Amino acid sequence: MSSGPSESTREFDLTGSHAWQELSAHQPHVYAMHLREIFAVDPKRGAELTIDVGDLHIDYSKHRVLRETIELLLGLAREVGLAEKRDAMFWGEHINTSEDRAVLHTALRLPRDATLKVDGQDVVHDVHEVLDAMGAFTDKLRSGEWKGHTGKSIKTVVNIGIGGSDLGPVMVYQALRHYADTDIRCRFVSNVDPADLVSTLADLDPETTLFIIASKTFTTLETLTNASAARTWLLDKLGAGDDAVAKHFVAVSTNAEKVSAFGIDTANMFGFWDWVGGRYSVDSAIGLSVMAAIGKEAFADFLDGFNIVDRHFRTAPLHQNAPVILGLIGLWYSNFWDTASRVVLPYSNDLSRFAAYLQQLTMESNGKSVDTHGHHVTTDTGEIFWGEPGTNGQHAFYQLLHQGTRMVPADFIGFAEPTDDLPTADGTGSMHDLLMSNFFAQTKVLAFGKTADEVAAEGVDPHVVAHKVMPGNRPSTSILAPKLTPSVVGQLIALYEHQVFVEGAIWGINSFDQWGVELGKKQASELLKVITEDESPETHDDSSTDSLVRWYRTHRGR
Ligand code: F6P
Repeated sequence: MSSGPSESTREFDLTGSHAWQELSAHQPHVYAMHLREIFAVDPKRGAELTIDVGDLHIDYSKHRVLRETIELLLGLAREVGLAEKRDAMFWGEHINTSEDRAVLHTALRLPRDATLKVDGQDVVHDVHEVLDAMGAFTDKLRSGEWKGHTGKSIKTVVNIGIGGSDLGPVMVYQALRHYADTDIRCRFVSNVDPADLVSTLADLDPETTLFIIASKTFTTLETLTNASAARTWLLDKLGAGDDAVAKHFVAVSTNAEKVSAFGIDTANMFGFWDWVGGRYSVDSAIGLSVMAAIGKEAFADFLDGFNIVDRHFRTAPLHQNAPVILGLIGLWYSNFWDTASRVVLPYSNDLSRFAAYLQQLTMESNGKSVDTHGHHVTTDTGEIFWGEPGTNGQHAFYQLLHQGTRMVPADFIGFAEPTDDLPTADGTGSMHDLLMSNFFAQTKVLAFGKTADEVAAEGVDPHVVAHKVMPGNRPSTSILAPKLTPSVVGQLIALYEHQVFVEGAIWGINSFDQWGVELGKKQASELLKVITEDESPETHDDSSTDSLVRWYRTHRGR
């Protein structure tokens, strides 16, 4: 382990802390104010409650916070030792205590000339060794030099993985489709529902298809099942023996032994380390499919984007630190306003999987009910993330955002330059401007709404006035960037990764384990025997599942 400050082992009573008490006392004051009033008494906030980091321009002025609120939240951050906890992560301390591991996804994007020794190992050297191997491999794929079993070049890369071994690559591949500069295309299979694999392979030519089996542990049931089925498909279609596997299968994993047992030559394996959590791994070798599509240079830009935000998070004063401020605001609503969820609304179709990606990042990280000492937490934890790209969401769920009884803080993400543009119907405008006019209109209406007087002044039938009132006072963050580039995608991901850290550090939970997914996996394998073999479905301790299993067996003819 490298030197650095030790995380305090003292037990900390979060809700009893001075800062928490102050925030509780302050909340009713802010609650009583409408954002209209908050802006009226502080007209400069729109220009001043902003942070620029890298290419991102972040406006948090439309939040139900006063400048005093931010100070109090920063007081909470100081009282829990947020900066020390952050530094402990960057130094490689074993902050993932339940698994006794360092948490070092930030090392994946350090430049080649940086130094970081963790547990006696030069991790920067290791990271760049793998990046070089990935670069050499993807160069061969992209140039057509890598040939399949029958001598043809690869046209389609199919990534088989799930969770962090799928969501990141899918999201980034879609976001950066304009940077895919060869005729290699990627597809992704994750679900153990065979419909996923069957539909993905239906129109593929096995001679020109390469599979990346992406699994940190190489034990994940879905991935290994799909990988076996893919191997059978390939060998059957090619009429080939096992020797064809080496030309059509590569692996990304931390587990060389299991990769080899599966039949993939470890010479075709790209490694990473136990200090990279699955949901933090798109910038490791797990991003191999992305590199195959966009090339090693654009992938380096992607990593550099993360690093820009890492440096900001590590060095910017807390009051100008974007992940700190946004994480604290997320916590403010979760704990002092009882909001359960945050909606993420990218005004970019190319970010259509961003909310799904964030769901794993945030909810697998912070969906915990015990603190790092194993004691039950005394506050709610874990924001529920959801969302869809604008403007689609406007025609689906924005009604609830605008006029429903629940307050849902929203993150809007938009770009100055379009990835694609077309003229509007009258031929004079740009469809991208139309898209972005909706971004600005929605954030404005959510914040400021429309009063009954304003509605009535338009001559609306008095019976309908109440229905047309737009309450406003609904908070949002606006995140703007010049363009959806590889670096910007990296910046956006890191911005959310570090918000997760900020919230988890203050809640005192371990954001880097995920024990809650294990029992379901174990019981699925036990129930598989019950639904497929002649084992009795009667457990006598769960009449609901017993009866569902009986129904299933009957309808499967068993
Ligand atoms: O089941 C949850 C999980 O462990 C995630 O944390 C992880 O991203 C996913 O499964 C896939 O794991 P692996 O990469 O080891 O196949």
